[in-house]
Amino acid sequence: MALRIEGYAIVSEDGMLADAAGVMPAALVVEADQKFLSAGLDRADLIVHGRNSHENQPQSPYRRRLVATRRVAALAPDPDHPNATLWNPGGLPLEKAADSLDVADGVVAVLGGTDLFGLFLPRYDVFYLSRLAGLRLPGGRPVFPQVPQSSPENVLAAAGLTPEPVQALDPARGVTLTAWRRPGR
Ligand SMILES: NC(=O)c1ccc[n+]([C@@H]2O[C@H](COP(=O)([O-])OP(=O)(O)OC[C@H]3O[C@@H](n4cnc5c(N)ncnc54)[C@H](OP(=O)(O)O)[C@@H]3O)[C@@H](O)[C@H]2O)c1
Repeated sequence: MALRIEGYAIVSEDGMLADAAGVMPAALVVEADQKFLSAGLDRADLIVHGRNSHENQPQSPYRRRLVATRRVAALAPDPDHPNATLWNPGGLPLEKAADSLDVADGVVAVLGGTDLFGLFLPRYDVFYLSRLAGLRLPGGRPVFPQVPQSSPENVLAAAGLTPEPVQALDPARGVTLTAWRRPGR
């Protein structure tokens, strides 16, 4: 057994997680996507995200998480979130950080933002990419550092992931979900 890495993101038509001010607009908070995310996070053994990200759901305080920051050398308690540990990925490999929280095997859910999503590109077993049509956030925070020069789909394909059929999450609002999976995983 080993850690299984799953990514979750919802992006605008131009591949953005948040606007130019670094704020995720309310339009990107879609109920069907939140339900999908919540079910996935409830199955996860560990959540990983950057210091400016958080899923902000009712179950959040009960979920074990690593919050990435360069403000610590390796690991330190997180005074701001329950069940959370500050983690510097440059100071300690994910496996060692997870092991310190008694997660040697299991699912790690990666929630972004841009740099964290990029950091894990070589490692995703699956990346769940939700898309909202009709919203553009020029100059915003992209889902991966390579966006918008490249599309999110091209970045995922270049990382060796292949798409499953597109699912309609909220047809009225033009929200779709595609699971990008590493072959054989
Ligand atoms: N639409 C979505 O699915 C989605 C997903 C995630 C986030 N968002 C939104 O995107 C916005 C935040 O974006 P962001 O890219 O600024 O967020 P972020 O990754 O959550 O936060 C950035 C911070 O995380 C730390 N960090 C990032 N990469 C690191 C690394 N490799 N090593 C160590 N520390 C690292 C740094 O903290 P220090 O400065 O402390 O070193 C960095 O300043 C928020 O509005 C959030 O709600 C949306």
